[in-house]
Order: sequence, then structure tokens, then C-alpha cells
Amino acid sequence: KESVIILGIETSCDETSIAIVQDGHKILSNIVSSQIAIHKRFGGVVPEVASRKHVEVINVLLEEALNDAKLKLGDISAIAVTYGPGLIGSLLVGVAAAKAISFAKGIPLVGVNHIAGHIYANNLIKQLEFPLIALVVSGGHTELVYMEDHHKFEVLGMTRDDAAGEAYDKVARTLELPYPGGPYIDKLAKEGKATIELPRALMDNGYDFSFSGLKSAVINTMHNAKQRGEYIAKEDMAASFQEAVVDVLVSKTLKAVQEKQVKNLIVAGGVAANQGLRSRLKEKCEQLGIDLTIPPLELCTDNAAMIASAGYFSYLKGEWSNLELNGIAGLPL
Ligand code: KG4
Ligand code: ZN
Repeated sequence: KESVIILGIETSCDETSIAIVQDGHKILSNIVSSQIAIHKRFGGVVPEVASRKHVEVINVLLEEALNDAKLKLGDISAIAVTYGPGLIGSLLVGVAAAKAISFAKGIPLVGVNHIAGHIYANNLIKQLEFPLIALVVSGGHTELVYMEDHHKFEVLGMTRDDAAGEAYDKVARTLELPYPGGPYIDKLAKEGKATIELPRALMDNGYDFSFSGLKSAVINTMHNAKQRGEYIAKEDMAASFQEAVVDVLVSKTLKAVQEKQVKNLIVAGGVAANQGLRSRLKEKCEQLGIDLTIPPLELCTDNAAMIASAGYFSYLKGEWSNLELNGIAGLPL
């Protein structure tokens, strides 16, 4: 059987990435150009700046990705591109590039959902085995998904307000940590004690999540302490916040695993890099005999290899897109 080579393009937020993946799992190249350094001084992603930066680097990345893989565009079986959800101006840069290459070279085009991409990052580590539960936790998304087969997503629950990563970033700002704050809180949490009482929303209430109350509780507690001249160690607040987030994420995920009676759990998205979450899930899954997969850090955060992997399975199913493909900011899974 001849191998299928997918060129992946990802520009949904502040990472420009181009990757080449063989047969849905073998990474031949995965170039990621992060704009974090540019957005840092604003404390968050500035959409106009993001799309302009994507335009500036995308052609160079394409060349780099092809060089790394020692391939030419003529060797590519299909182009997989993220068309949502994300920042519309950013999405359009990737979609326009993908359509241009597809049209010029006559290469099939496959539109990929960014969240599906995060899930398929796991296929780059180990072949997905169904049925499975996927926990997607990133700066923009918190979703618990049941999958019976490739590209069959049943969203069991999602966040009603802030995404888990968003809560991390906002709490980090309150604690005067740099952007994006997730990794900094994770690090501080290890040095502190979870002694501060914080809420765990919707704990025994279905699969939806809510993190804005927790975020506000942290902000208020810090504010009130300051007013009273009391001292709260950042380490203790980080540890307490992280414990609250991990409690909720792990309890709902395990409930889904048990109710759906699956043996496979996969985790994806930037927050999957979190040490507290990883170690708690690992411990619980060992106890319960659940097969747990979490991609390494560089595949947890936004990258095009995961888009190429998701696109591979759409390509095989014949689910191709045409040149009318457009970016959709609020694309559901
Ligand atoms: O998946 P991603 O790169 O972008 C989105 O699609 O949103 O996720 C970025 C998010 C940020 O909110 C960042 O703070 C968070 O992932 N993050 C972490 C950690 N590393 C990254 N959150 C908690 N602990 C970490 N170690
Ligand atoms: Zn993402």
C-alpha cells in the first residue's frame, strides 16, 4: 500500500505551524512559529497582530517544512488546514494559503476542526483505540468528548464560561505572573500548599464545566487579603487553584470513562501539559486499569502535525473540501 503524505496547516490563534505527516502518525516535519513573545507585552493575543504575523511567516514555514521532510509539493497527497474554531483573521491566513496551494498544484484539500486536531495529537503517539473519552483542555476550549470511531464526536460536556487555560491565564495575571500563565502556576503550585478554600463548580452536575467562579474567587481572595494587609503566598494560591481545577477535570473525566465504559482515555490541549493534571490522571487510571495517553508537551500545544493527523482520517473517508472552504470562528466539533 502506498503511503499517504499530508501537509498540515494551523493558524487558528497565535501559532503559525506547518507539518508533514505520513499515514496519520509519522511526523516528517512539524515547524511551529510562536507569537507568544509578541503578544506577551499585551497580556494576551491581539487578533490583528496575530493575523499579520501569520501572513509574514507562512511561506517561509512551508519551505522549511518541505526541506525538513526532504519533499516537494508534488509528493503531497492532501493539504489539511484548520478552518475553525479560532480567530477569524488568523484562520483565514491558513485557509487562503491551503486553497492557493491546492488550486495551483491540484492537491486535494481537507478542512480540519481545531479541537479534532488536538484530539488527534494522540494518534501521533499511539494509534487511537475506540471507544474512547477525550478531555480537551486548552486556552480556548474545555471539552469532554466520547468517540466511537474516527471523526465521530459526541460532546458530553463543555465549559459554560472560561476555558481551563483561560482561567489559568487570568489567575496568573492576578498573581502577577507572565503570559501565558499556565506553566508558571504549574511550577509555583509544586512549591506551595493547597490550604486556601476555593469553589469547585458543577462538581456533581453532569459534564459541563465552569471556571469563572473559581477565577473570581482567587481574584477576590487576593484583593481582600491585600486590603486587610494580610499576606497570601503566591505558591499557596497557585497550589489551591490548581487543586480545584484538577479535582473538577479529573472527577468529571473519570465519571465519563466509567459511565461510557471505555478503556481508553486521551488528553489534549495546552493544559494537558499541566503536571498536576498529568500525575493525578496517571494515578487514577492505573488504579482503574484505564489506558491513558497524553501527548508530550510540544504536541499538546497548537501545532500542524495534529491537524495533518486528523486530516489524514478525513482524507481516507473521502471527506474532502473544495475551494469554497472558509474560516468559521465558532465552528463546533
Ligand atoms: O492548546 P493551546 O496551545 O492553545 C489553544 O488552542 O488555546 O493552549 C494554550 C493554553 C494557555 O492557556 C496556557 O496557559 C495553557 O495552555 N498551559 C498550561 C500549561 N502549559 C500551557 N496550563 C496549565 N499548566 C501548564 N503546564
Ligand atoms: Zn489549540
